[in-house]
Amino acid sequence: MVLKAELHCHIEGAAAPELVEAQARKYGKDVSHFIKDGSFVWHDFTSFLKAYDEAADLFRTEEDYARLAEHYLTSIARDGAIYSEVFTSPDHAEAAGLSPQAYTDALGEGMARAKAKTGIECRMIVTGVRHVGVESIEKAARFAARSGHPLVTGFGVAGDERMGTMDDYVRAFEIAREAGLGITVHAGEFGGPQSIRDALDHIRPARIGHGVRAIEDAELVKRIADTGIVLEVCPASNIELKVYPSFAEHPFVKLRAAGCKVTLNSDDPPYFWTSLKREYEIGRDEFGLSDKDLTALTRTAIEAAFCDRRTKQALLAKVDAKR
Ligand code: ADE
Ligand code: ZN
Repeated sequence: MVLKAELHCHIEGAAAPELVEAQARKYGKDVSHFIKDGSFVWHDFTSFLKAYDEAADLFRTEEDYARLAEHYLTSIARDGAIYSEVFTSPDHAEAAGLSPQAYTDALGEGMARAKAKTGIECRMIVTGVRHVGVESIEKAARFAARSGHPLVTGFGVAGDERMGTMDDYVRAFEIAREAGLGITVHAGEFGGPQSIRDALDHIRPARIGHGVRAIEDAELVKRIADTGIVLEVCPASNIELKVYPSFAEHPFVKLRAAGCKVTLNSDDPPYFWTSLKREYEIGRDEFGLSDKDLTALTRTAIEAAFCDRRTKQALLAKVDAKR
């Protein structure tokens, strides 16, 4: 089995429909309008985000979040994942009635349980959500900077790319950078190449969430390749959200051939009927990657991970031992 590593998964978006239904029963809520026959139901980016927010609202206590993290991370570890960075969202926790610190500690507890069971190494990237607003993004950055949780190692911005502009978020990212956190930002998913250029110019991230629409601008592709910015590519997400009509038209292969550092990720796996395992299968079956190529992607992800050098070396040694 090819060992795997992921850099881009939203923890609220990793909740399986069965788990969300169990939470709904626990809190006496009806989810039949967005879960049908054991599957999430949505039809465009707006309705996807709405289903996601409603599902997240059913995780309310520390134990709910600890179980969510443990459940998800244990499942990917069984599929060969040795490293996972998940996006966390203090906004979603607060909306569900839990403080950002209690939420983060609870996810950390779930990560500790998953690691004890399977050995999987995990970190958290605190995110602000664009459609919640600029002020909340700065608040999330201030929280990330002072949380002191040893597994919080990054800061990012996700949410609806149609809201706000990159220069709105400069202050939030400066707070995070000053605190020594790794920086990633969603861009070039629904926004075109200009959204990526704006991210590079204003935010100076080490990684871009998605970034696939860079392919529309050859200069930008060269800039990404030359500067070694890592792209957190989420192929199934892009197909399901109709960023591309088919895997054949997805730019993964071209970006990789142009020398961009690409990685494979699942974004919000059950919403897109995917998993980290399936993303690697897509790499093999749709993008023509060999096991050696896939292992190289795992190495790229580990090298770009927001974790300390010793952890990276230990993870890379595991990958090498398996070859
Ligand atoms: N939040 C969760 N999934 C997302 C995505 N694919 N794009 C932007 N924000 C998100
Ligand atoms: Zn995402």
